[in-house]
Amino acid sequence: MKKKYNAAVLGCASIAVRSLIPELFNSPRFNLCAVSSRDPAKARDAAKRYDGVSWGTYEDVIRDRHIDLVYIPLPNSMHHEWTMNALKNGKHVLCEKPLVTEYGQLEEITAFARAQRLLVAENFQFRFHSQHQWVRNALAGQKIGEIRTFRASFGIPPLPVGNIRYHPELGGGSLLDNGAYPLKALQVMLPQYNFMMKAATLCYGASGVDISGGMYLDCPEGIAAELAFGMDNFYQCGYEIWGSTGKITSTRAYTAPPGFRPRIIFETADGVENIDMPADNHFANMLLHIAGCLDSGDFEDEYAQNLRQAAYIKRAFELAAHPA
Ligand SMILES: NC(=O)c1ccc[n+]([C@@H]2O[C@H](COP(=O)([O-])OP(=O)(O)OC[C@H]3O[C@@H](n4cnc5c(N)ncnc54)[C@H](OP(=O)(O)O)[C@@H]3O)[C@@H](O)[C@H]2O)c1
Repeated sequence: MKKKYNAAVLGCASIAVRSLIPELFNSPRFNLCAVSSRDPAKARDAAKRYDGVSWGTYEDVIRDRHIDLVYIPLPNSMHHEWTMNALKNGKHVLCEKPLVTEYGQLEEITAFARAQRLLVAENFQFRFHSQHQWVRNALAGQKIGEIRTFRASFGIPPLPVGNIRYHPELGGGSLLDNGAYPLKALQVMLPQYNFMMKAATLCYGASGVDISGGMYLDCPEGIAAELAFGMDNFYQCGYEIWGSTGKITSTRAYTAPPGFRPRIIFETADGVENIDMPADNHFANMLLHIAGCLDSGDFEDEYAQNLRQAAYIKRAFELAAHPA
């Protein structure tokens, strides 16, 4: 019987209420102990749906000595402050993407976490959906020959006006929100290549945040990556990997909900196959992965992934502001 870790949640965010609170409650590796909010009534309403879960303020949760791991789904501009608060109180951290809004913040977080032997993981649960392992196996089996181009996009229609993503002071903007996904997908699907970012563009809206954009990367092996994102867009949530003899397209790469069978399109000169993958629960898989990291005490891979992603985002902002 493996150890169960005590977890708590900072803020009754939409993503927490919809997904992470129920998944933590049902996880075989975590005890969901507490949820918190700026508003006590909101925390109580969220907690009372789950037997034995208490509620309080963010500070209550951070100071509770029984909590092993804190999940942070606050607005992006608050991730650095509350991750550091949690680490200083001896907690492991699972923080929503993007982990930080500035690269230097992540250097501070990583140095402190490493010194204290604490995990800091960025919550990209799509990494753990089994559809992507199918694609990696197909690539390894040379099913599309040599890889030539990776194209990925994540775009959503406009959100209600008050949404946190439209507020510069809350770390809003499309690159940090949507753009982070195709960038992460490149690293998850083709981890063996060292991509350099060569160009990035950002289009700003009246709210003062970037509303859409794109990035171009390549690597010494000659593979090009074209990434596109936006939050005033027709919904797109996928990637395609184009090879010398075929192409694989993931049509619901980042947000396939539990129970949903995402379609992969596999094309070669012999024809087109639409393959409906088995349903999977990437949230549950991710929590098993986090528990496995805590069991092993080896957090270096997560630190490295965090830093690599944040370095790319930093480079994209620089290239968009000052094209090379
Ligand atoms: N991994 C994923 O699939 C996924 C999906 C969606 C979002 N996200 C990430 O999760 C985070 C939250 O996104 P969301 O869409 O769930 O946001 P949201 O519903 O607006 O929730 C943010 C929460 O932060 C708390 N908060 C504290 N100070 C705030 C302030 N000044 N303004 C607004 N809220 C404040 C609020 O909780 P209390 O009022 O209860 O304190 C609020 O409910 C973001 O970092 C986002 O990128 C990840």
